[in-house]
Amino acid sequence: MCRFSRRILFLTLIIGVIISFFTFSVVDVQLYKLSLLSYVSEAEFMATYTFPDDFNNATGVDHFIVPNIIHFVRFRNFQLGFVDYVVLKAAMRNHRPDKFYYHTDIKDAKCEGKYWEWVKNDQELWSRIEIKYIELPTEIFGQKLSDGWGLFHGSDIARLRILQKYGGIYLDNDCYVIQSLDKYRKFECVVNWDENQFLGNQVIIANKNARILPLWLDTYKEYHSDKWYYNGGERPTVEILHRHPELIHRVKGNFGADTGVSVSVYMNPQMDWRRLDIVHLLMGHRSYLDPNYKTTPVFDENNIRTYPYPFGEMAREVLDLPHP
Ligand SMILES: *[C@@H]1O[C@H](CO)[C@@H](O)[C@H](O)[C@H]1NC(C)=O
Repeated sequence: MCRFSRRILFLTLIIGVIISFFTFSVVDVQLYKLSLLSYVSEAEFMATYTFPDDFNNATGVDHFIVPNIIHFVRFRNFQLGFVDYVVLKAAMRNHRPDKFYYHTDIKDAKCEGKYWEWVKNDQELWSRIEIKYIELPTEIFGQKLSDGWGLFHGSDIARLRILQKYGGIYLDNDCYVIQSLDKYRKFECVVNWDENQFLGNQVIIANKNARILPLWLDTYKEYHSDKWYYNGGERPTVEILHRHPELIHRVKGNFGADTGVSVSVYMNPQMDWRRLDIVHLLMGHRSYLDPNYKTTPVFDENNIRTYPYPFGEMAREVLDLPHP
């Protein structure tokens, strides 16, 4: 009896080992396949898509040619603030990208601090976040970037290079997404260019082979280090778009690039913000644009509960906070 049960035990053990071996190898293979799959789909997006001279910038194509990746650039500062968190939540809820790429020049950047912790506790967000190291550009075509504007100019350049590398949706850190941007993922390149204005570079949606990207970078051969928006917006508008408007799908107004629109979120309770795709919050410019700045110089999860202007409603909505 004793010998018999020992034999059973032994047999069970062997069978167990065999079964677990099979299970693990199957799981392994599946995992491998899965990673291969996601690799393939990414590679597919990376695949060369050449744009003919007569590519239709008004209708685009009938399938997605821009990968569903949202790119943020964070030079020198990888801390996540309250508004950064709101922006991330809005992009997730209202657009639903496959990935968020945070490009930073901070080596071994760590997701630490209160709001990164909030992100880590949010599976939907955290599973999508990837951190990519990128050097802060310090010169372009042998010209040293401005001391004062260096961070901004570096970011202007980096966003173009990032789009050339991956394609996707570049957003400034203070762009609040209101509607799905999928309708724009069928074009070579989409930019907000308001009537009689320079283009806005706070939102750029592009395939990696968009023809305007290398041309835009080329305009830096004439770099004006003393002007904030010369190479960011003025020169590409005048040198490229005035001659070749067909290189972009032109968006007027809907990316909320206009300063008057941005300011409304801090002062006009009647603002109809929901009709826009994106609002550029111009957070860093509130001190002189927002007449009520002194009452709420810094937003957080407490004061946002009763903040009476549209930005309060926008933030509360994505944070699931009640209407006061
Ligand atoms: C498409 O390009 C033409 C120039 O060929 C331009 O006039 C037009 O505004 C563009 N349309 C859109 C929607 O961007």
